[in-house]
Amino acid sequence: MIGNPVLAASGVTCLYGSRTGCADVSLEVHPGEILALAGESGSGKTTVLKALSGQLKPAAGRVLYRDAGGAELDVHALTEGRRRLLMRTELGFVHQNPRDGLNMAVSAGANVADRLLSGGERGYGRARSAALDWLGRVEIPADRLDDRPGRYSGGMLQRLQIARNLVTAPRLVFLDEPTGGLDASVQARLLDLIRDLVATLKLAAVLVTHDLAVARLLSQRLMVMKEGMVIESGLTDQVLDDPQEPYTQLLVSSILEA
Ligand SMILES: Nc1ncnc2c1ncn2[C@@H]1O[C@H](COP(=O)(O)OP(=O)(O)O)[C@@H](O)[C@H]1O
Ligand SMILES: [Mg+2]
Repeated sequence: MIGNPVLAASGVTCLYGSRTGCADVSLEVHPGEILALAGESGSGKTTVLKALSGQLKPAAGRVLYRDAGGAELDVHALTEGRRRLLMRTELGFVHQNPRDGLNMAVSAGANVADRLLSGGERGYGRARSAALDWLGRVEIPADRLDDRPGRYSGGMLQRLQIARNLVTAPRLVFLDEPTGGLDASVQARLLDLIRDLVATLKLAAVLVTHDLAVARLLSQRLMVMKEGMVIESGLTDQVLDDPQEPYTQLLVSSILEA
């Protein structure tokens, strides 16, 4: 990897049978940086995120992750066990639908503590107090700790999912439309929370969004996807203020009109 990116993907192509999910995607994510992937529904954003995070094996291309010890790991060449451990510790993944990222059968507190325990923490008491601390940081009241997530609102579910991911102090977090489907006011508060956490923890993140306003607020760099390919990329402000591709111009003008 050139420089010191925490993640570097080259030529990543993913297929679903004969359908292309994404084609020839290359990118780097540097420590402390938020990279946004934007594009309309079906443009391949989630597919790229799954390939980057090791959940979907590309038909071609490579994903390299630099781990906490400085070793370069080929994410898709790891054994299943090592890949899973990485996912439970150094990497986080906040799903678009919180139900995909949470265990709905156990309490909110257990959702957070369990990730620590499955990542190797042996002290149950320590896991529980770390869970408590994190639920406080995402503004979930202590008296809701023992509730099952099914009783939470959409915004709370997303905050719980964030706590569950961040409790292991990951170095790189993947966020798939983290504020999609929420009311505007709930969305604004969640975006503030994400921005504060990412800055405080100096996290690197790949953020998927179809909403360019979200990309503007959170990311330093932006890649625009269309039909599985990256068609434009650069500094977020530059791309949004002066889009070069007609498709990006269309996306930008449609948020201005919205
Ligand atoms: N599990 C799947 N099986 C078949 N096709 C899929 C599957 N998931 C996604 N696709 C297709 O891959 C393309 C990219 O989808 P996706 O990555 O989900 O886009 P986005 O997240 O930008 O909405 C679309 O054409 C979609 O229909
Ligand atoms: Mg998607």
